[in-house]
Amino acid sequence: MSARIIDGKAVAAELRAEIARQVAELKAKTGVVPGLGVVLVGDDPASRSYVSAKEKALAEAGMLSDDNRLPATATQANLLVLVDRLNRDPRIHGILVPLPLPKHLDEHAVIAAIAPEKDVDGFTPANVGRMLIDLPCYLPCTPHGVIQLLLRSGVETSGRHAVVIGRSNIVGKPVVHLLMRKAKGGNATVTVCHTGTKDLAAHTRQADILVVAAGRPNTITGDMIKPGATVIDVGVNRVADPKTKTGYRLVGDVEFDSARKVAGLITPVPGGVGPMTITMLLHNTLLAAQRAAGAGR
Ligand SMILES: NC(=O)c1ccc[n+]([C@@H]2O[C@H](COP(=O)([O-])OP(=O)(O)OC[C@H]3O[C@@H](n4cnc5c(N)ncnc54)[C@H](OP(=O)(O)O)[C@@H]3O)[C@@H](O)[C@H]2O)c1
Repeated sequence: MSARIIDGKAVAAELRAEIARQVAELKAKTGVVPGLGVVLVGDDPASRSYVSAKEKALAEAGMLSDDNRLPATATQANLLVLVDRLNRDPRIHGILVPLPLPKHLDEHAVIAAIAPEKDVDGFTPANVGRMLIDLPCYLPCTPHGVIQLLLRSGVETSGRHAVVIGRSNIVGKPVVHLLMRKAKGGNATVTVCHTGTKDLAAHTRQADILVVAAGRPNTITGDMIKPGATVIDVGVNRVADPKTKTGYRLVGDVEFDSARKVAGLITPVPGGVGPMTITMLLHNTLLAAQRAAGAGR
């Protein structure tokens, strides 16, 4: 058996076309153009490539982008002044501060300074709290992308056993909540695994849906997967590869070749979850603009 590949690029393209249509509609009805303010500090390579991919996606969706770059030596005060300016700018509906920030900056304080109505990454304590008690909120982009991939690939989650590997604030914990909550794309029975888990394979072999966000290549191999399971690989890892121009290539957390022989559906890396993250950021920015224009849900 060879698993069906979940094509994240195709799902993302379908969603982005829907978003672009809604952006045009909002603009025609209210004159409002959704705007995203970005604060990029230092030159973390993953953040830089995320920001340039995001710029292109915003332009294609007809949205406004306000990019602000600060040197790695920027102070906490520099950063807070910038966030405050974006909080008060009516052209800006969403604010993105790519993490990680340089070590001398207090990430929690910076994120908490973002106005909740502009928190399109969904990371502020206020937004996370609202999500947990099922109030209207912005769903964090990568976890929401995972759920959209499942929904749009026709994977039933209700009543199934989902196993999530990872408990980070930005991926693992929110994925667990979204899979568990009583809603479309949720209502699963969820097991969470982390580095304290004994006998990881004993858990993963019971998963109908396996979401892997460990940040380590080969965390999951084919023998750890239940035959026919759906495997969502969130991991993005650089491994050395002298045959490539850059000297590295991207791999996920799942050993793809052995996993695809056992799984029923599987996401590739790249081209799986990755394209969904920016797409859900566009979705949240549109939602923020609709709400600001009084046309939101
Ligand atoms: N595609 C995208 O758009 C996107 C977005 C965000 C992140 N990512 C990728 O997703 C991966 C995870 O990101 P993250 O920010 O959640 O990483 P993280 O903060 O490093 O968290 C990793 C989690 O996995 C657990 N873990 C690590 N190794 C494990 C193992 N061998 N067995 C069981 N659990 C293990 C850790 O457990 P402990 O809590 O016990 O340490 C931790 O909870 C990374 O590769 C990242 O680059 C991709």
